[in-house]
This record gives sequence, C-alpha cells and structure tokens, in this order.
Amino acid sequence: MKALVIGGGGREHALAWRLAQSARVQTVYVAPGNGGTALDAVALQNLGISQPEALADFAAAEKIALTVVGPEAPLAAGVVDLFRARGLPIFGPTKAAAQLESSKAFAKAFMQRHAIPTARHATFGDAAEAHAHVDALGAPIVVKADGLAAGKGVVVAMTAAEAHAAIDDMLGANTLGVAHNAEGARVVIEEFMAGEEASFIVIADGRTVLPLATSQDHKRIGEGDTGPNTGGMGAYSPAPVVTPNVHARVMQEIIQPTLDGMAAEGMPFTGFLYAGLMIDASGRPRTVEFNCRLGDPEAEVILMRLKSDLFEVLQHAAHSTLDQVQLQWDRRTALGIVMASAGYPAPPRTGDAITGLPAEQQDLKVFHAGSALQAANGGAGDARTLVTSGGRVLCVTALGDNVRAAQGRALAAVREIRFAGAQWRGDIGHRAIRA
Ligand code: AMP
Ligand code: GLY
Repeated sequence: MKALVIGGGGREHALAWRLAQSARVQTVYVAPGNGGTALDAVALQNLGISQPEALADFAAAEKIALTVVGPEAPLAAGVVDLFRARGLPIFGPTKAAAQLESSKAFAKAFMQRHAIPTARHATFGDAAEAHAHVDALGAPIVVKADGLAAGKGVVVAMTAAEAHAAIDDMLGANTLGVAHNAEGARVVIEEFMAGEEASFIVIADGRTVLPLATSQDHKRIGEGDTGPNTGGMGAYSPAPVVTPNVHARVMQEIIQPTLDGMAAEGMPFTGFLYAGLMIDASGRPRTVEFNCRLGDPEAEVILMRLKSDLFEVLQHAAHSTLDQVQLQWDRRTALGIVMASAGYPAPPRTGDAITGLPAEQQDLKVFHAGSALQAANGGAGDARTLVTSGGRVLCVTALGDNVRAAQGRALAAVREIRFAGAQWRGDIGHRAIRA
C-alpha cells in the first residue's frame, strides 16, 4: 500500500520514516518533503505539490491508502474536510476541530465553557484596551497573537514594558509574521503560570483516545532556557515530570473533557491532539495551549520510541477502530537535538552546505527539516549537495538507557555535523538530568 504525508519538517520525516517501516507499506510520498526525505534509505519519495485539491487528486489517482497531515496550516485550511468529502482516507482533524489550535481565542473560550484548567485570559483587538489591561494586572504577564505563528507568536513578559511592546508589535508591525484569523489582528493576554512544561499528545478517533509517550520540548533558543522562543530546539521522551499521578489527572481533567466537549459541540476531534501543559509544584496540570497535530521536535523523540506499526495504528485511527489498538514503546529514553541555521528564530540564512552526517545506524537517526538537495555547482551528472533551506535544519535523535546516555549519543553526532553558523543547545534534557 501507499501512504502520503503532508508537510516537510522533521516531524514529517519521522512520520514518513516510521510509516515506511510497516510491512504493509510499499512507498510513502512526502509533500513537499525535504533533503532528508529525498535521501532516506527507506522508501520515501518527495512530491512537489502543496495545494489541497492537487493533493486529493494525487491521492485518488495513486489509490493512497492513508494520508497523514503533519503541520497545522493545511488542517486549518480544511484539507481533512476536502479529502473526506471525496471519500479519501485521511488522518487529522477537520477545519472546525483544528480551531483548538488555529484560534487561541476559540481555544480559551472552549476551555472556559468546559471547565478545563488553564490561565485566566482576555482577548483584545483594540491596542488601547490591551495596554490598559496590562497596566491593571502588571507583570509577569503573557501576550499572545491570535492566529498561526509556528510557535513564535508568544511573549512571556517579565516586565510591563515588554508586554506593551509586544502588544504594539502584534497589533501593528507584526514582525513575528502571524497569520491573522478572519477577525483581524487580535491579542490574548494571559495570567502567567509558574511550573514545568510537558507535551502531552494523544491519538483520537472521535470515540477512543490513546495517549502517546510523554515528552518535553525546549522552546528557547539559548542554553539554560534563555533568549527568544522558537518552534523547539530539542526534546526528549519520556518526561519524568509527568508522574503516573499527573498522567491520570491530565487524562481526567484535560484530555477527556476536551474530547467530550468537542463531540458535544458537533466537531468530534480526530487526529493528534497535543496539550501543552504547565505542571506546578503540587503536581497540578494546567493547559498552556492546544495543538491539533504532533509537536516538532516532540514527534521525532516519540516516534523513535514507538515499537507498534504506525501505519496500522493510524489506519485504525482513521477508521474509528482505535479501541482495537495497544501501543508498544521502547523503554529507553529518546533525545533529539535541533540544529538551526544562523539567525533563527528570525528569518535565517540559508544555502550553506551540510557535511558530516553520520552513517545509518541503530538507535541514532538524523531527521531533516530545513534541508534541500541542490545541483552541485558545475558538478557532473546528477551530483547534488545537501544545503540548509530553513530555520530548523536537523533533529539529531538518539536512544539511550537514560537521559544522560541518550544526550551523550546525540551530542557526539551533532559535533560531527557541520554547516556555517549552526546553532544548537548542549543542554537538551537538563531538567531530567539534574533531577
Ligand atoms: P504557546 O505558543 O501558547 O505554547 O506559548 C509558547 C510558550 O510560552 C509556552 O511553551 C510557555 O513556555 C510560554 N507560555 C505561554 N503561556 C504561558 C502562561 N500563561 N504562563 C507561563 N508561560 C506561558
Ligand atoms: N514543539 C512545539 C510545537 O510543536 O508546537
């Protein structure tokens, strides 16, 4: 059978790589894919189309057995609705259900309606009102752009001045490049929550829910969690902060009420549901945000540990028979270190040659994101070189018996890989190592 993965980041490389390992899968197309999916030894094939209609035409013509959507943008654009209307099997949430991520204002109002624990908030389209709100509440306070921002449209302001500047930017210049919703530019201003974060991702088929392994992301660009927020500079799984007790509370207080609430409101959630959690010192989990997809780089570490046949699992999920599935996990820790281009998270420099990639080996995998194959300058025949083409370039992922061992293995590979201006963090997993 053939599968199709929509997207071109590290998450999609990991999805496609796992799907291709199924005995039932012959080819996995990745649209558009990247330099890594073009080179991977497993049966992956890049596909240069991106419009939902064209993807559906391709899926119909090639009799694709299952399409899996990686990023939020095609989900928010309704690719799942389109495929379903044409009778094509696809795994992901509908456009209506994807609002849990595509509109922070929708998500916060939904959580309020269903008593799902989260930070108190208020939404503003008017800058003067937003400024007055910050003056009334004081810092620390959190300012978020309402729309799709690839993880970057959030400012955790430790001072009121930072919060005011963020409001002016988000309602004005929009230097973070947020894709606004139909209502236009709006900001959500939130109570600051203290605690430790974790990523809690489940597979939902509209009736049954299966939690994936837990993980923790590192959102700041710099070591010691300093500097601006990024899409994620590294992750590891499992996350020890999610103790069995916290796990049970998350399922009962956050995940189940969310799925029940979405069903009750006529938009049953099918797809990966990602709850970004803040867990306070007493072990109380609250929701920072929902995403309607796998995390990136969380997907890389989670899928590294998945022993079950991903194709079979997602086929069950797409056909609402997840109750027949049990997930098997590698008991070891997976840890992934992102290597990013010079300049990231601002618009990065691209086009630098990437060298020193390790040979294929057990328990180590380099997932690609912003990499591309380029015809070598003056090279004979079809000689091609791998170059950087985006902000996050690679996610170097290793398995180890504990966090330190996995980190050591990933770091050893990172140190051999070269591209000009590469940025990476040597402290991924530090919270679990110190503990
Ligand atoms: P988001 O895109 O909503 O996940 O926010 C990005 C990051 O900002 C989160 O991963 C947190 O580190 C931080 N953050 C967001 N909201 C809050 C909050 N209410 N309190 C504390 N930190 C937050
Ligand atoms: N790594 C965070 C995200 O995917 O949203």
